[in-house]
Amino acid sequence: MKNLNFPGLPRVLVVDDEEGIREGLRHLLQSEGLAVETAASAEDGIRRLQQKGADIVFLDLHLPGADGLSILPNLRVGTPPADVVVLTGYGTVANTVEAMRKGACDVVEKPFTPDRILSVVRRVLELRQLKSELSWLQDRVRELTSTELVGLSPAIRDVQTRIDQVGHAPDTTVLITGQSGTGKELVARCIHERSVRRHGPFVAINCAALTESLLEAELFGYEAGAFTGASRDGKAGLFQVAAGGTLFLDEIGEMPRALQAKLLRVLQERTFRRVGGIQDLQADVRIVASTNRNLRHEVEKGTFREDLYYRLNVMTIEVPPLAQRVQDIPLLAHFFLDQFGRQMGKSLSGFTEEAMETLCEYTWPGNVRELKNAIEHAAILCPSGMIDEIHLPDLSSGGTNGRDRIQRSVITLEAENRSIRSLEGQLVQRVLEETRWNISKAAAILGINRTTLYNKIRAYNLGQRPNRAKAVLS
Ligand SMILES: Nc1ncnc2c1ncn2[C@@H]1O[C@H](COP(=O)(O)OP(=O)(O)OP(=O)(O)O)[C@@H](O)[C@H]1O
Ligand SMILES: [Mg+2]
Repeated sequence: MKNLNFPGLPRVLVVDDEEGIREGLRHLLQSEGLAVETAASAEDGIRRLQQKGADIVFLDLHLPGADGLSILPNLRVGTPPADVVVLTGYGTVANTVEAMRKGACDVVEKPFTPDRILSVVRRVLELRQLKSELSWLQDRVRELTSTELVGLSPAIRDVQTRIDQVGHAPDTTVLITGQSGTGKELVARCIHERSVRRHGPFVAINCAALTESLLEAELFGYEAGAFTGASRDGKAGLFQVAAGGTLFLDEIGEMPRALQAKLLRVLQERTFRRVGGIQDLQADVRIVASTNRNLRHEVEKGTFREDLYYRLNVMTIEVPPLAQRVQDIPLLAHFFLDQFGRQMGKSLSGFTEEAMETLCEYTWPGNVRELKNAIEHAAILCPSGMIDEIHLPDLSSGGTNGRDRIQRSVITLEAENRSIRSLEGQLVQRVLEETRWNISKAAAILGINRTTLYNKIRAYNLGQRPNRAKAVLS
């Protein structure tokens, strides 16, 4: 069928007791590149649909032993369910209405022309394609605006508790701190979603992305002709746009000092003025600010106003680095794998033990964002099934006991027995100790693969591997 972007081969099932109709439709639709199954009875039709599935079913209303209308609901199965086109030799209005009521998408009277059939098929397939695109887009939007804060570690539970607490105080300013990629913006969205302000907008602005005057105009808006280039009607600022909701000031530590004073005024007075304006406008927003800097240090250095710091610091949520919540790594990894699998239309079932071990042993300086990117990388490389180590990006240099530190250190080996065998055993033992028995890292430093390393540990009867939880936490 020309100009149709249908994913895969469209499948059609024809249920009709007249052989001429079955074979005629098979011939017509197969020549259009569709996969066609036929059945001469209701039972056979249902069985074939269950076995093979279908996008479109052509259903004769007068079948031996069963009325087509009565089996119509049984044909609307599968996800998405097949679209049923009813074929009738007795095109009465009552029949048509009843067929549509039971879920048929169209009724075609016999005798029909090939063009009539092809136009019905084209319309149904186009509609199915649109519906599937729509549901894919809806999933994407849901994912992008998802406020699911994944994690069961004590550290992330504390964050969740704080979010619930501030949810009940919908006007209180909240400061979110934490390293880059820990999930500060996600926490801000969660705060918005868990408060009565969720019915209003969530508006985010990155204070580091704009120059001082642009940021001011964005935040407060401006009157007509306030400055050269200002639009004739003036413009509403984000304090106005976010009314009733939450205004997220990302990277507040980068806000120029002059603007800090203006923001302080909004927080104190709960009013603001547009650039060039004389009227005080109400600021009905909750401010959530975030920074990956230590604002106290910035205050000491004089780059951040002390009074604003105290105003913002009413409620602080510190999002811990991923390295402090290692037990969340498997949960997060599976969460992201599910997301990317769905997005890419792949069936990715999980991680091999080695891959998961590698993910848990890495220190994630880029935090959850880096983990998310690593899983996306793996999901692209892995055709289906389990993610293995080879699908992951190179994570060998990010450990606390990384290759560099050990390569530079001098390793002294005892000289009593200078056989290569003895020295090798000592070297392997030393590297294992220095990496706290992190097998992946030790293997990378020694330049051998993990299986070889395990063999050497056995061969040299090296010390027992310590309990893993201890190794990670110590
Ligand atoms: N606990 C979590 N559960 C699910 N997804 C998370 C979690 N933490 C972070 N993410 C995801 O990781 C990515 C990075 O998070 P986010 O943008 O909130 O970090 P950030 O701290 O604001 O980073 P930056 O300081 O670089 O702006 C986002 O896609 C976010 O949805
Ligand atoms: Mg952010």
